[in-house]
Amino acid sequence: MSVPSESSLVGRTVAVLGCGSVGAAFATASLRAGARVRLFARDLGAARNLAAAIPTALPADALMTPRAGAGIDAHALGDLDLATAGEVLLFCVTERALRELAAELALRAGPLVEPPVALHSAGFLGTEPLAPLRARGLALGKLHPLHAFPPGEIATSLAGVWFALAGDDAARRAARDLVRAFGGRELALIEDDEALPASERYHTAASLLAGGLVALFALAEELMPAERADARQALGALAARTLENVVARGPTAALTGPVARGEAELLSRQLEVLEARAPEAAVAYRSLARRMLSLALSRGSLTPDVARTLEDRLES
Ligand SMILES: NC(=O)c1ccc[n+]([C@@H]2O[C@H](COP(=O)([O-])OP(=O)(O)OC[C@H]3O[C@@H](n4cnc5c(N)ncnc54)[C@H](OP(=O)(O)O)[C@@H]3O)[C@@H](O)[C@H]2O)c1
Repeated sequence: MSVPSESSLVGRTVAVLGCGSVGAAFATASLRAGARVRLFARDLGAARNLAAAIPTALPADALMTPRAGAGIDAHALGDLDLATAGEVLLFCVTERALRELAAELALRAGPLVEPPVALHSAGFLGTEPLAPLRARGLALGKLHPLHAFPPGEIATSLAGVWFALAGDDAARRAARDLVRAFGGRELALIEDDEALPASERYHTAASLLAGGLVALFALAEELMPAERADARQALGALAARTLENVVARGPTAALTGPVARGEAELLSRQLEVLEARAPEAAVAYRSLARRMLSLALSRGSLTPDVARTLEDRLES
């Protein structure tokens, strides 16, 4: 395995609990960074299958020079022993399962001389679901990749991925080490609202964007009068270009289309098309167009009269 010389995971053991999309990605990235990876799933067969699939999914150069101690093995969650599982436990199970699994492991643990660090990957949540493990001396935290991992795919690298971290000091340090070893970047969240934890805003923003983009794409793809494969590629190119613009210039400068140009007649005709062919998309378009309108206004590209006309068309 070729491992960057600065990798902090060489000679370390990472236990990955859960063999879904995120478990697979964390296991793969840890292996690439030179760790010994211990994979745990409630079904031993699932852990074995993933342990066998990861090395074959990796590009050949990632496996060229195996490090002493690096490797991957598979276990049943029922056999997990907190004293020996690893220095870091990465909980990559569903939100629903986290609390129950943490409570069960805490109950099962004997005395721990060197308690591991426990991190989960659920973006919205704080460390509460892992709380039973604190009584056993574990430092608790979160390591959330701001990335979309579709089911069934093994992400072969986390290089360049942004992560949100939270938790006790020791847990944050461990999470930061992992981010560095994975070649990722930390997104520092700002706690500026006593009533609303930053993690909840963070994850809601991420879900709105990632899920919203996919849903919008599906609506546009259905409406597009072209062969499905061509429509997907063509819309994909438009979406990629639009994202490039918005990242480089910001939403106000990147906005294009009838609302940005103040074309009220054209907007009305488009709404008619949607009402006729995709009423669900008409609701989304009206709602998003209100935001387009305020972006266009803040750019100063619409006169107040034109803005009022557009507003009326959106209300009609
Ligand atoms: N997918 C993403 O893009 C993404 C991105 C960032 C963060 N996350 C977060 O990462 C976590 C895992 O997501 P995922 O996409 O990897 O989910 P996933 O592919 O559905 O995998 C979930 C895993 O949890 C296991 N599990 C479910 N219930 C369990 C229980 N009661 N006891 C033990 N294991 C249980 C499943 O095991 P079985 O196979 O045995 O059912 C499966 O291995 C979630 O909190 C999610 O929000 C996901």
